[in-house]
Amino acid sequence: MAIQRTFSIIKPDATKRNLTGAINAKFEAAGLRIVGQRRIQMTRQQAEKFYEVHAERPFYGELVDFMISEPVVVQVLEGEDAVAKHRDVMGATNPAEAAEGTVRKEFALSIGENSVHGSDSEENAKIEIAQFFTEDQIVG
Ligand code: CMP
Repeated sequence: MAIQRTFSIIKPDATKRNLTGAINAKFEAAGLRIVGQRRIQMTRQQAEKFYEVHAERPFYGELVDFMISEPVVVQVLEGEDAVAKHRDVMGATNPAEAAEGTVRKEFALSIGENSVHGSDSEENAKIEIAQFFTEDQIVG
């Protein structure tokens, strides 16, 4: 498998509970390198654009409100098969369905307040990374 980059967000429910380090430890233990990272207060415009694929879903408004409710940590993670590896470490979107040892099993509060976001494909990872990082902010 090739070295890939993926995009990750440590969400407001996790930053609020001071879990950034604990979540990063799980990523690093899985072999993902944090090659870009910034703590930001996402704007409504950024959140609406980032989640625009979900604009027609009933939870869209709630999702946008949540993502701007507290700071988030946006990240670029790099490693062998990084997109799939990151999704494995995160666990299922719904924490009730997440496997033991995953971030969401351990830390997520609900399907909405689920602590982390990760890209679902390498193609989307490139698009999502470009929304928050310029190349010079990523140091591998
Ligand atoms: P994420 O990986 O960030 O991508 C879309 C997000 O929508 C997802 O994680 C969940 O946090 C959120 N989401 C998905 N389904 C629901 C739902 N039924 N209610 C609230 N939020 C949801």
